[in-house]
Amino acid sequence: MELMKEFWKMAKSDVKRIVLPEGEEDRTILASAMIKKEGLADLILLGNIEKIKNKAKNLGVDINGIKIVDPQTSESKQLYANGFYELRKSKGVTLEKAEKTIEDPMYFGTMMVKLGDADGLVSGAVHTTGDLLRPGLQIIKTAPGISTVSSFFIMLVPNCEYGDNGMFIFSDCAVNPNPTAEQLAAIAISTAETAKNLCNMDPKVAMLSFSTKGSAANELVDKVSKATEIAKELRPDLQIDGELQLDAALVKKVADQKAPGSTVAGQANVLIFPDLQAGNIGYKLVQRLANAEAIGPVCQGFAKPINDLSRGCSAEDIVNVVAVTAVQAQKNV
Ligand code: ACO
Repeated sequence: MELMKEFWKMAKSDVKRIVLPEGEEDRTILASAMIKKEGLADLILLGNIEKIKNKAKNLGVDINGIKIVDPQTSESKQLYANGFYELRKSKGVTLEKAEKTIEDPMYFGTMMVKLGDADGLVSGAVHTTGDLLRPGLQIIKTAPGISTVSSFFIMLVPNCEYGDNGMFIFSDCAVNPNPTAEQLAAIAISTAETAKNLCNMDPKVAMLSFSTKGSAANELVDKVSKATEIAKELRPDLQIDGELQLDAALVKKVADQKAPGSTVAGQANVLIFPDLQAGNIGYKLVQRLANAEAIGPVCQGFAKPINDLSRGCSAEDIVNVVAVTAVQAQKNV
């Protein structure tokens, strides 16, 4: 996996501090030993210190030197509780509630990132996507100028003539169930930035639909064409076009027929799906039927990087997501 090797190399070049809230979990402990051995990140594991050390011993891995913090007993607990209270008191959170909430490693870890005690967070081997996103949205919040947090997959399709030799960015496949036109525009802009800054691509962004340039009339199509207009107006410097059917986005011959003159159609390498059903189904179709490698979902739009894992992930998957998160922290994307 050439691209992942590149992320590993970058992660090692400027080591970042990544907090893993699921520190007591076996795959996380196995991954931690690998990350330490490879020098990919300075890790902070959250959980009961004795329990984590015993598990590592039983698993036969060396985690000596990795920082372990127990949210229940940490001396930072009150500081983080106060910080969380300040951030959420307008939403009805009391100090007492904040003190209780901060014992949850997901909230504790997110406050660590917020207050600069860690550069990024990776979780999700046990917790759901929502469990990761909620503290992120409440505490880290969006980066300046970004209104909507979303996610992307880097898709590497073997033997593929489309995109950048089979490399694509797909979004949003994991966060926003039914984005408005404004949110869809924001997702397109964030993904173009990700393609440029994280993947060194020259983004050509297709706003996908079941219609190409007015070939069908429907409010679902209207949402995508409105999102395209908004994105183009906000960022005239980016190459964004829509609404486009998938074949018009990828295949030059179809593009010449359906969207003549478009600088994106026929050569798109960034695909923006109209909603989460399309995005999630779309990436899995390509992953399963075309044997594509799917790197993600990686979050974009947070002020600091926090990333999710699949609950079916392997220790190797955790290592890779930590490497990507470390690179996001380096590049501030
Ligand atoms: N971007 C920016 N802010 C957001 C977003 C967003 N995408 N979504 C919610 N917010 C804000 C809300 O406005 C709210 O702000 P406030 O409390 O400061 O006023 C705050 O974040 C928290 O919002 P909640 O209402 O508590 O959360 P909500 O119930 O809207 O849930 C969530 C947000 C968790 C992202 C939800 O939309 C969700 O569960 N999405 C789908 C996740 C999922 O299951 N994905 C499938 C995974 S499959 C796979 O990963 C491949």
